[in-house]
Amino acid sequence: MQLKASLGSAIARLAADQVPSPRLNAELLLMFTLNCDRAYLFAHPERELTAEEQSRYDAALAERARGVPTQYITGHQEFWGMDLIVTPAVLIPRPETEHVIESVLELQTSDLRPRTLYFEPKGPRSEVRGQMSGVLRILDVGTGSGCIAIALAKEFPHAEIHATDISAAALEVARANAARHQLEKRIQFHQADLLQGLNISGLDFVVSNPPYVGESEEDQVQLEVRKFEPRDAVFGGPTGVEVIARLLPQAYAALRPGGWLVFEISGTIANAVQHLFIASESWENVRLIPDLQSIPRVVRARKRKV
Ligand SMILES: C[S@@+](CC[C@H](N)C(=O)[O-])C[C@H]1O[C@@H](n2cnc3c(N)ncnc32)[C@H](O)[C@@H]1O
Repeated sequence: MQLKASLGSAIARLAADQVPSPRLNAELLLMFTLNCDRAYLFAHPERELTAEEQSRYDAALAERARGVPTQYITGHQEFWGMDLIVTPAVLIPRPETEHVIESVLELQTSDLRPRTLYFEPKGPRSEVRGQMSGVLRILDVGTGSGCIAIALAKEFPHAEIHATDISAAALEVARANAARHQLEKRIQFHQADLLQGLNISGLDFVVSNPPYVGESEEDQVQLEVRKFEPRDAVFGGPTGVEVIARLLPQAYAALRPGGWLVFEISGTIANAVQHLFIASESWENVRLIPDLQSIPRVVRARKRKV
């Protein structure tokens, strides 16, 4: 069959199976099958697919039609401009998690503004940040694919970066991703329940995209997420804030005075998270930062200096 016809029937098949964005998914799976980019699909509509290519394409479409996310079929997801490997052992990195990176960059830049006087801004922006920061120390809790830790390692080339996950399988993927981006020597991975047993203190940042969906809302979660993404990566306990409630005191103990905790939340748990901070005197400058749709998306809080 010719490429254009094969793509057309794939779109119809995915649409019939009620797969969202059938055209996009059919294109992505064809690009994966042919190992090509989108431009190639449109430049070669009459290219004949071999029987072997068509059969691999059909297999990928069948997986997608039964609900497997495209990223688990192709094994890839882009995050912060980087191509990352994903397997069913890790949450598929979401674009909204990039707000965590943006918040750290913003805080680090504003925290260091007075010190910029001492540096010659010669290198690229991220290089300068690294130089300004001295040894910036960051911990990513629940690293999954490693997306946050790897993005921060890129942004802060001189920082000391640690990353934890409770899942050994997730850490394997994170390590592979770090190696793929030549950052394996820059990030120390630890298998741990949050920060337990890490013996790390004096951190400038603790960052996290913790599991924060409440088990009580399970039936409102997309079926694809429920069926195919790791349960421990998605659900944070009966109400969704249980993991965050444990994270707060552990992060506090590991941060230096004036250090920042930055983590992702959803609008659903925003009030409950605010209450966790109200109940504690340990933090200052607590802010819930909305995303472009005005949904609270990132929390940042500073460990009191005294
Ligand atoms: C929402 S996912 C985030 C993954 C990745 N950081 C991202 O943003 O895509 C949460 C991650 O936390 C890990 N996790 C869950 N409970 C944990 C715990 N108690 N201690 C450490 N990691 C945990 C899960 O295995 C999962 O990889």
